[in-house]
Amino acid sequence: MSPMDAAPRQAPPRINPLQRIWLRELGMERLWLRTPAAAPHAKMAVAAPAPVSDGAPNAAAHSPIVAPAQVDGRRPGPAIAPASEASPAAAPDAAVASTDVSTAADTAAVAPAKPAGLATGRASAIPASILNRTGPPPRPAPKVEVQDEAPPPIPVAEAVKDANLEQLAAQVVACEACGLCKGRRHAVVGQGAQPTRWLVVGEAPGEQEDRQGQPFVGRSGQLLDAMLAAVGMSREQDVFITNVIKCRPPGNRNPKPEEIAACSPYLMRQIALLKPERILVLGRFAAQTLLGTDATIGNLRGRVHHLKADEGVQIPVVVSYHPAYLLRSPSEKARAWQDLKLAAREL
Ligand code: URA
Repeated sequence: MSPMDAAPRQAPPRINPLQRIWLRELGMERLWLRTPAAAPHAKMAVAAPAPVSDGAPNAAAHSPIVAPAQVDGRRPGPAIAPASEASPAAAPDAAVASTDVSTAADTAAVAPAKPAGLATGRASAIPASILNRTGPPPRPAPKVEVQDEAPPPIPVAEAVKDANLEQLAAQVVACEACGLCKGRRHAVVGQGAQPTRWLVVGEAPGEQEDRQGQPFVGRSGQLLDAMLAAVGMSREQDVFITNVIKCRPPGNRNPKPEEIAACSPYLMRQIALLKPERILVLGRFAAQTLLGTDATIGNLRGRVHHLKADEGVQIPVVVSYHPAYLLRSPSEKARAWQDLKLAAREL
């Protein structure tokens, strides 16, 4: 008798057949079977493909049953408690168990086979096909997601081609062409007079604009309205205000190139439809995007650029500081005033 055999036995935890199935699925049932008194349930453990009584050194490699015996330092042997350890209630099933094992030696060592629920004659809700299953637990079947074949999205540039202003606004509101749509409350299409004399182009909606769905409604917007009023213009009468990007970038970060690329067709279509007499571009980002340059504001302001619109029309473009910058740097307002006067001049 090995020291382990002499060790006091602990009563096995009581488990019902369903719990045993779970243990099996978790690969823990065999650990539980190491408890000698668990022998009556041996049939489930015997179900592993390779008998372990051949003592092959690599038996563990191909029989999951071996692992617990090696873990606790025992010689690899029958993973099943000897028949003599079986409970009397299970003993009558020994002959059945012997049909499930591979060798005569194993057969002798195999304990009675039926799980407790069956050994006592109770009906089991667990199908025999599961109870007698051999080999490792099957993997759960991969989930197959049935998806309707959605048509590929139409590129924005294609979608806006024939849109009027109303349709364009609806497209912007529904747009999912870049990731910014995920975080927006509102897409901000633009706002102002139609027909319009000036188109004012900012960068992107901020928090207030995202909340209200209108451009330049925060502190920058108040300053913009005051600037426009200084040259006799208003968003109600003369000016349409929009942005290069129609959805708020998280935390007001700079828009990414792919977001600009996705959104620019909306601005280009707005220009084509509104046909403004001139465009006032506010801030470096909008200026660089619209004029296709990486020149600084200092380089771009103070002169008139031209944007080639539909049908070869050249629209005068004046660049100035963004109102948010002017709020931080009020000393630059004098230059912004020069820019406004330039824009207001007959060009
Ligand atoms: N800044 C912008 O560039 N656009 C807005 O609409 C508001 C703040």
